[in-house]
Amino acid sequence: MTLASQYAMRQSFQDGLLDACSPRKILVTGGAGFLGSHLCEALLQRGHEVLCVDNYFTGRRENLAGMLENPRFEALRHDVNFPLYVEVDEIYNMACPASPGHYQFDPVQTTKTSVLGSINMLGLAKRTKAKILLTSTSEVYGDPEVHPQREDYRGNVNPVGPRACYDEGKRCAETLFFDYHRQHKLAIRVARIFNTYGPRMDPNDGRVVSTFLMQAMKGEPITIFGDGRQSRAFCYVDDMIDGLRRLMDAEGPAVGPINLGNPVELTMLELAEKIVDLTNSRSKIIFRPLPVDDPRQRCPDIGMARDVLDWQPLVPLEAGLEKTAAYFERYLQGRADSEQPRRRSLVRRRVTERLDAVVMAQGAR
Ligand SMILES: NC(=O)c1ccc[n+]([C@@H]2O[C@H](COP(=O)([O-])OP(=O)(O)OC[C@H]3O[C@@H](n4cnc5c(N)ncnc54)[C@H](O)[C@@H]3O)[C@@H](O)[C@H]2O)c1
Repeated sequence: MTLASQYAMRQSFQDGLLDACSPRKILVTGGAGFLGSHLCEALLQRGHEVLCVDNYFTGRRENLAGMLENPRFEALRHDVNFPLYVEVDEIYNMACPASPGHYQFDPVQTTKTSVLGSINMLGLAKRTKAKILLTSTSEVYGDPEVHPQREDYRGNVNPVGPRACYDEGKRCAETLFFDYHRQHKLAIRVARIFNTYGPRMDPNDGRVVSTFLMQAMKGEPITIFGDGRQSRAFCYVDDMIDGLRRLMDAEGPAVGPINLGNPVELTMLELAEKIVDLTNSRSKIIFRPLPVDDPRQRCPDIGMARDVLDWQPLVPLEAGLEKTAAYFERYLQGRADSEQPRRRSLVRRRVTERLDAVVMAQGAR
């Protein structure tokens, strides 16, 4: 059976489950972001009530446009670094900037969001007896000496480097989740997400897929940091959302940490060439020095996700890149309708300016 038909089967199976699953009140922190907004949509489609909490640091109201009219959806502007008093059955704790330019813009706030934000959400879970899931990251493995990365690998993180605010913040968040489980018997889930891409990514966030696509579509040189032999593996957003939902629904009081990502690895040079082909671009590929602490290899071992969640990515890279390119094309042509930002707040303008500087210094991820 082809992956495409497996994907179609999975969709119809999920639709069939709609009536069977009991509706729950679900909090998604970071719900206006790239992954969060796709998750909110998926949860609404399954009949749940969704409360999206976001401070709009990197999230956009435009990402929520299709949901605002839904009576089962509510959006609340709130910073997770402050306590939140609501009644919920499940919490997806996703609030945290994810691209290097964004998380290095205000590193102290980034660490606080992972640590203090997790403490606040774990406190809420404790009070409401809600199940709680953390979107941790493959960055907890740092520049790995083990390849591919399995969950029992403890990582090689520089605790004082420019990426530490994110990497160590997430590592501490994982610790907190397991301590709340051991000490307060909370039902927890921890996902370690590997590079994920798709529509609604910020086209200017400095991540490698968005950067290459934007450069190719504008006919600008495609910038590879290093010699292009460093590798990554990219998961399409629909697959990731399916994995997160399965993880939340998995049996057991504590599930994870568990890798979610696509194990099909390719080099940055191969990715650049694929994107040039896909977009029929005349962009040249140019090389720049490798940034500080840039991992040479990053690829998940998803054996545990296969066994525990019966999950694996099904969307091929080419198909996912095409959908993402179509989204960026609408963005570039100013026809992204409601999904395109209408006006940038002062903070977002400052972030974008700072981001340009960080991307120049740190490279695309
Ligand atoms: N996209 C990936 O490839 C990837 C990889 C690994 C981990 N993750 C994790 O997944 C989650 C979502 O990532 P994303 O790619 O959607 O990033 P994103 O930047 O698009 O979304 C993050 C959201 O969190 C919000 N946020 C940030 N700080 C907040 C705060 N203090 N209070 C409330 N809201 C806050 C932002 O405004 C944004 O809407 C993050 O936790 C990230 O670490 C993502």
